[in-house]
Amino acid sequence: MTVPVTDPRLKGRELKRVALSEEQIATRVRELGREITAAYPDGDLLVLGLLKGSFIFLADLVREIERPLHVDFLVASSYGDATVSSGHVKLVYDPNTTLEGKHILLVEDIVDSGRTLQKLMTLLGERKPRSLEICALLHKHIATELHHPVRFTGFDAPNEFLVGYGLDHAEDFRHVPYVASLA
Ligand code: IMP
Ligand code: MG
Repeated sequence: MTVPVTDPRLKGRELKRVALSEEQIATRVRELGREITAAYPDGDLLVLGLLKGSFIFLADLVREIERPLHVDFLVASSYGDATVSSGHVKLVYDPNTTLEGKHILLVEDIVDSGRTLQKLMTLLGERKPRSLEICALLHKHIATELHHPVRFTGFDAPNEFLVGYGLDHAEDFRHVPYVASLA
């Protein structure tokens, strides 16, 4: 299905096809909420959304998790620069609250190479959380650099560039309520 160019959100651009409809996303997010609720019978749960891509998914997801929790965010900036051999991920915004002894659920929009998540998992793991897991809306299953399983996955994603429901292309399309492939 081709997204009508008449969708006023698209800046006159046509997207190739809708990969996930609003209804498909809503159904799966409800299921994920149930899975997460069941997975954490006790203890403090801190849901950490990785900005900006996770903002819509996170907002929908936490409303489907039927247990007490806190929400915070992470803003990571990566030095993709070849001159920086370590390729560090720096936290531009880091939650004030302690992670020690808490269940930490890191929420990401999409796992691509897995590089960002791998670095964050190492960094957050050093803070002695009780548990540390990943929840991703989309997983391309091409991640060679991620050495942690993605505990909660919304959908297996095609190896295409996807936009909408938080995902952007040059900051466009984040507010599109479905997920579509760009070209
Ligand atoms: P990774 O470190 O290569 O796994 O990249 C993860 C980040 O790249 C995601 O959080 C997204 O912000 C971005 N990204 C990767 N693939 C896509 C895509 O298909 N559409 C939009 N953003 C993407
Ligand atoms: Mg992005």
